[in-house]
Amino acid sequence: MATNRTFTMLKPDAIEKGHIGAILEKITASGFRIVAMKLTQMTRNDAEQFYAVHKERPFFGELVEYMTRGPIVAAILEKENAVEDFRTLIGTTNPAEAAEGTIRRLYAESIGENAVHGSDSDENAAIEGAFHFAGREMF
Ligand code: RTP
Ligand code: MG
Repeated sequence: MATNRTFTMLKPDAIEKGHIGAILEKITASGFRIVAMKLTQMTRNDAEQFYAVHKERPFFGELVEYMTRGPIVAAILEKENAVEDFRTLIGTTNPAEAAEGTIRRLYAESIGENAVHGSDSDENAAIEGAFHFAGREMF
């Protein structure tokens, strides 16, 4: 089952701008089933752990500030080829370079504040899903 799942967060900028409904509509219309979902806010410690792979990067401090400044929507999504198809649906990290119709092209403004997260591998999808959800919260 893990190979058919990915993990996403609608990031604080997307929530602030009122895009939750539109983004979820696009996700479900693209064939993803919502397995788990909640509105939550990451602590500094959560964000530092979640993005630990980037801790030496120059943008790490800004990234942690951004990801903790307000609520996010965390969700686990299921679909055939979920990880790759979801990365295609959200578009490249920099919304200015993202393909027409992708979530980042439509709803994000900058490389730093890019509206949505998508896991980059099956292994990370499982780790990230388990970071946010207990087994009994997954359906
Ligand atoms: P994500 O992990 O959130 O799905 O994004 P991603 O794979 O497309 O990009 P990644 O390289 O993993 O970067 C994680 C997040 O850090 C912020 N970032 N800022 N200012 C910058 O140059 C910069 N580069 C990355 C973004 O919020 C990015 O999504
Ligand atoms: Mg990433």
